[in-house]
Amino acid sequence: MATRITKAVIPAAGLGTRFLPATKAMPKEMLPVVDKPAIQYVVEEAVAAGLTDVLLVTGRNKTALENHFDRATELEANLNLKGDTDRLQKVEYSNDLADMHYVRQGDPRGLGHAVLRARMHVGNQPFAVLLGDDLIDARDVLLSRMIDEQEARGATIIALMEVDPAVAHMYGVATVETTDEDDVVKVLDLVEKPAPGTAPSNYAIIGRYVLQPDVFDVLEETEPGKGNEIQLTDALRNMAQNDIAGGVYGVVFKGRRYDTGDRLDYIKAIVQLAVEREDLGPELRPWLKEFSDNLK
Ligand code: G1P
Repeated sequence: MATRITKAVIPAAGLGTRFLPATKAMPKEMLPVVDKPAIQYVVEEAVAAGLTDVLLVTGRNKTALENHFDRATELEANLNLKGDTDRLQKVEYSNDLADMHYVRQGDPRGLGHAVLRARMHVGNQPFAVLLGDDLIDARDVLLSRMIDEQEARGATIIALMEVDPAVAHMYGVATVETTDEDDVVKVLDLVEKPAPGTAPSNYAIIGRYVLQPDVFDVLEETEPGKGNEIQLTDALRNMAQNDIAGGVYGVVFKGRRYDTGDRLDYIKAIVQLAVEREDLGPELRPWLKEFSDNLK
């Protein structure tokens, strides 16, 4: 019986150019989604699925990430002195959320390259990869379902979501066949960001993966692909087509996912999450309604 996986890898070396100038001196992973940095949602999701060992693959200008998951002694002392226990709790929460580790990517040569940087830390066991641009609603189950499937099938598991064919070219897209489980498909082929109108299906990869460690050997051999970057999708394609380490399966997610990767989606994500919050929703909802009624 395999032991349950414990390690999560979160690539966080991107330059965040879509959010300039906000990201000139601040990592995009620190952009607030309502009042929490985007990265904290992702780490919380990993921890909720039992993955308490988290490796962030970072780059230059990313020290704010390390600081966020460490103590903020001065701030804590100040809040303590004021007896502001509510805010103190918010500050302290991320200190010990997970056992955090960091490695730098060096040259940003693509997602596959970022994952390869985790090799030493991960070793020879299955592990999860979570992409920070995709937020999965904490009330919906995805990662733990994927981990269960990884254990049951001894294969690599990716998260898929059916998307509007008009946007399929923005994702890795899978060719699939059904299995004996409703929410699981076998992945036969994958293509990274197919040209518009050429996607083989509307099953898009959303940024959650539970990978067999064999992916490292495959990535070592993977040539740069789309955008001249080493693509994780290309390595997974090889594993799916050649049945490497049990092949690749997809868990089809039907829950709530928020994209924070570009400005418009980021704004939508914040509004969607804020209207459901107990502290903000009751005031925000009627205001939003009035605001939209007045929109031309
Ligand atoms: C990455 C992957 C892509 C996947 C997407 C999900 O692309 O390469 O296969 O569909 O994440 O968000 P990115 O959006 O980082 O360019």
